[in-house]
Amino acid sequence: MQKSRILQRLTNKSPLIAPPAAASNGSRPRRFETPHPKLPSCPPTASTLTRRRLHDEEILALNTYDFLAYLGKAVINPGGTVGRNLLLARLNPKPGSHVLEIGCGTGHTACHIARRFRCRVTAVDISPAMIAQARQTVQARGLGHIVKCEVADISALPFAQASFDYVVCQAVLMFVDQAPALQQLRRVLKPGGMFAGVEFGWRGTPPASVRQQTYDICGCRTLEFHHRGEWGYRLKQAGFDRVESKEQNFTMLSMTGFMRDEGLNSLKVLSRLLRRTASIKRLAGIWKHFSRHKNYFSYVVLAGRKLS
Ligand SMILES: C[S@@+](CC[C@H](N)C(=O)[O-])C[C@H]1O[C@@H](n2cnc3c(N)ncnc32)[C@H](O)[C@@H]1O
Repeated sequence: MQKSRILQRLTNKSPLIAPPAAASNGSRPRRFETPHPKLPSCPPTASTLTRRRLHDEEILALNTYDFLAYLGKAVINPGGTVGRNLLLARLNPKPGSHVLEIGCGTGHTACHIARRFRCRVTAVDISPAMIAQARQTVQARGLGHIVKCEVADISALPFAQASFDYVVCQAVLMFVDQAPALQQLRRVLKPGGMFAGVEFGWRGTPPASVRQQTYDICGCRTLEFHHRGEWGYRLKQAGFDRVESKEQNFTMLSMTGFMRDEGLNSLKVLSRLLRRTASIKRLAGIWKHFSRHKNYFSYVVLAGRKLS
């Protein structure tokens, strides 16, 4: 992608893609009917975790999540550790039970679950680079005996039916075709098992232009967020019972949210950020958009049970 076009996208002066017709009347843009054909799907590349020096243009073209991973951010979801704790308070897994975490990223949540709740955890992610990172996290924390990491796609989980007591996923459903993914989550749960997740949510009714700019600035063709009610509806459609969906304030990009989620790692992330002007520009574009429209963003804590 040419540099001028990337910069245009970041400053939002002229979106690359016109707002979809379906969204102009305030209705929900549908992902596969109104794709973002010029943006990559997620995750587009594993190169962001290789630590090789990226060119400025590559940094500017990274999708939001690859960019945050490139900076070395460990927690990459809209609820941060607060959302994770809400999710886990709802799940409350029993000691000795088997938890599947899907889209585990750097492995921090898988380790937290294993340690805090004394569970066995299988952590999967579609990105081999993320799994390599997660394995390092697990090893560094000495949890290799109870946390296993492997590459797997949420849409085709390589596990038998009724394998897990609990399934967790944070900021993953929003990237994928949600109906088949939710059916997969339900399939691998034992009867009586529980799913809990955190996903990005719309608050109120954002104008079509704000929705479109958000998908554009995130740089990911397949992204799709929903209101709290729509997320809950999708879980019910997939066959979950006792469905809950609760809207929470989005604080991931605030300075306090950042420091709380990253702790000492904040210093590493900041120093990596400040090393490259292109990184500062990419973050400024994201920050500007999310701060300007912050009232339209939330995250949703989801939960549902498989009763039979
Ligand atoms: C926004 S990050 C969230 C990472 C982690 N859950 C966290 O909260 O920090 C999304 C993660 O989902 C993974 N992912 C995306 N599509 C996936 C899929 N189809 N199956 C499994 N993982 C996927 C990505 O590789 C990435 O690690």
